[in-house]
Amino acid sequence: MIKPLASRHPLSSLDELREKFHRWFSQEGKDLPWRKTTDPWAVLVSEIMLQQTTVAAVIANRRFEKFLREYPEVKTITTADEAQLLKSWEGLGYYHRVRNLQEAAKMILEKYHGVFPESATELETLPGIGKYTAGAVSSFAFNQAAPIVDANIARVIARLLNFADEIDSNLGQKTIWNLAEQLLDTHKPRLFNSAIMELGQTYCSPKNPDCFNCPVADFCQTQKPEELPKKKPRKLFKKIEEHAILNRRNDKILLIQEDGSRRKGFWRLPLVSAEKVAHLEADSTHRYTITHHKVTLFLYELNLDEEGEWIALSSLASLPIASPIRRIIEGAI
Ligand code: ADE
Repeated sequence: MIKPLASRHPLSSLDELREKFHRWFSQEGKDLPWRKTTDPWAVLVSEIMLQQTTVAAVIANRRFEKFLREYPEVKTITTADEAQLLKSWEGLGYYHRVRNLQEAAKMILEKYHGVFPESATELETLPGIGKYTAGAVSSFAFNQAAPIVDANIARVIARLLNFADEIDSNLGQKTIWNLAEQLLDTHKPRLFNSAIMELGQTYCSPKNPDCFNCPVADFCQTQKPEELPKKKPRKLFKKIEEHAILNRRNDKILLIQEDGSRRKGFWRLPLVSAEKVAHLEADSTHRYTITHHKVTLFLYELNLDEEGEWIALSSLASLPIASPIRRIIEGAI
C-alpha cells in the first residue's frame, strides 16, 4: 500500500495530535452503552466482559445491560451463589473472570466501604484487575490521567511511532506503555483513551488499515502498517480427544459437576478413558475449540455406570453448562 507521508512526529507535535484525536472522536466516536455511564461498577463490568467477547456480540445480545440489571451495584453481586454467577456469565467464557469480579466487589465493599478507589495503582490491587483494566476504570469512570494499552491501542502506537520490536516481549510492553503515557492527553484522559482505542477498532485495523481517511495519518511514522505490530510467533493449538457418555434414563441424564479445574461448578457429560470404549463405535463426533485446545469429542449413548448425578432434562436450562457441551447434549437428547 502507498501510504501518505507524515509531515509531523507524534512526540514533537503532541498538542496537535491530541487535538486531532479530540476533534475526530467528538464527531465520529461511537455511542456505546458503557460510554453513557461513569459509574465505576458499570465500567468495570464492561471491561471484564469485553476482554473475551467482541463489542458487537456484547451489544447484539445486550449482555452488558442484562448483567447490570441482575447486579446493578457492587453489593448485589457479593451475595450471588456460584451457580447463579456462572449462569449470569454463561456463553461469555473464561469463567474465572466473573468469580474475580465477585471477589473484587467483596473487597470494594469490605476494604473501601463500597466506594471505588480512583487511582489505577489502587485498582490494580483488586482481584482480577490488571494494568489495563485498572487504567480503563480510572480513566473512563473517573477521568483520571491513567494510560491504557490493549491490542488495538498497541497497534495504533506501534504504527504511529513505527515501533518495530516485538510488542509482547517484556521490553516491548514496557516501551508501548511508556509511549501510551507520553501520548495521553492528561486534560482529557477519558476522551483520549476512548479515541485511540476506537481508532484501532476502525481505521487502524490489523489488515487493510484505511490510512487515507485516518484522522491522524499526518503523524503516522510507518510506511508499512500491515507489518506492525510485530509479535512473537504464536503457540499452536493442542489437539485432544475426549470420550463422553450420554446416559439417559427416562427424563434424566447423568451429568457430573466439575471440581477443582478452571471450569469449577460447571456441569458436563461423564468422560471415560479411550481404553474403556475402544471396542465401541461412537454414536456421534463433535469438534470444538476451547482456550488452547482443539477438542474432538466422541459421544457414546450408553448405560454405563459412571459417577455423576441424575439431572432432569427440564432443569438443564437453568444449570451452568459450557456452551459447546450444551450444544452437544441438546443435539443428542
Ligand atoms: N473494548 C474494551 N473496552 C472497550 C471500551 N471501553 N470501548 C470499546 N471497546 C472496548
